Amino acid sequence: MAQLIDGKQLSNQVLQEVASEVEQLRAEHDVVPTLAVVLVGEDPASQVYVRNKVKRAKETGMGSIEHRLGTATTQGDLNQLIDQLNNDPQVHGILVQLPLPSHLDEEQVIAAINPAKDVDGFHPVNVGALAAGQASLVPCTPQGCMIMLRQVHPDLSGKNAVVVGRSNIVGKPMAALLLQANCTVTIAHSRTKDIESLCRNADIVIAAAGRMELINADWIRPGATVIDVGINAIEVDGKRKLVGDVAFDSVSEIAGAITPVPGGVGPMTIACLLLNTTRAARRQLA
Ligand code: GUN
Repeated sequence: MAQLIDGKQLSNQVLQEVASEVEQLRAEHDVVPTLAVVLVGEDPASQVYVRNKVKRAKETGMGSIEHRLGTATTQGDLNQLIDQLNNDPQVHGILVQLPLPSHLDEEQVIAAINPAKDVDGFHPVNVGALAAGQASLVPCTPQGCMIMLRQVHPDLSGKNAVVVGRSNIVGKPMAALLLQANCTVTIAHSRTKDIESLCRNADIVIAAAGRMELINADWIRPGATVIDVGINAIEVDGKRKLVGDVAFDSVSEIAGAITPVPGGVGPMTIACLLLNTTRAARRQLA
C-alpha cells in the first residue's frame, strides 16, 4: 500500500506557522494581517469554500472581511469594491472567489486587484514573476502540492513529473514550480496523445484535470508519487461524497505515495492562502 500524504496534518503545521507569524506581526508592528474574501452569486461549492477560508483565517488570529454580493452585481459594482479594498491599508490580501457569474469578466476582475494584495497569485504581474522564477505570491493549490511533494521527495531534482490539466489556477503554475525545482515537466491535457504512457513514465503525477477518477492504476508506475487535486461531488446511496481525479482504491495499491480526497490537497490550499496573506502583510509594512 502507498504511503498516505496527510493534508490535514500537514496543513495544521502550516497553520501553526501562520498563527505565530500573525502574532509576531501584531506584537512587533501592531498589524493584524487581514484577508478580504469576495463572493458573488449563489454557487453552493463556492459558498462552502469561502466559509472554510474565513473560518480558518479566524482560527489563526488573522482578520477577515467577507463581502457577499448578489448574482445581479455589475462589473462596475465589483470594480468599485476592489478599488476600495486596494486602497484600504487595513486589508492585506484580497481574494475574489471563482468562478464568477457568467456576465462578469474574470480576467478583468483579477487584473483590477493590487498585485501586492493578490493572495491567489492570479494577477498577470504575479503570473509573470512566477514564470521568471521571481515569484512572491504563488497560487495556493500548487504551493500546497509542492509542500506535500517535499514530504516524499526532499530533492525533486531530475524527477519526471507529469501535470494532468492546464488550468491557470493549478496546471500552469504547478508546472512552473516543478520546473523551478529542477523536475523534467510534461503538461498533459484533453488533447494529449497517449496520456497513459506519459503518466506511466512519471515519478510524479499531479492530477488536476477536473474529471472524476480519470487516472487509474494502469496509468501509474509502481512506486510513483500521486497528488490528487480533483474535487468531484457525487451521490452514493443518496449521500454526497467527494472523489478525486484519481481512482484511489486501485492506484493506492500501486503508487509509492498518494494524497487522499478529502483530506489531501484541499486543506493545504487554505493553509497556503493564509500563508500568502501573512507574506503580503509583511511586505506591506511601511
Ligand atoms: N476557485 C477554485 N479554486 C480557487 C482558488 O484557488 N481561488 C479562487 N479565488 N477561486 C477559486
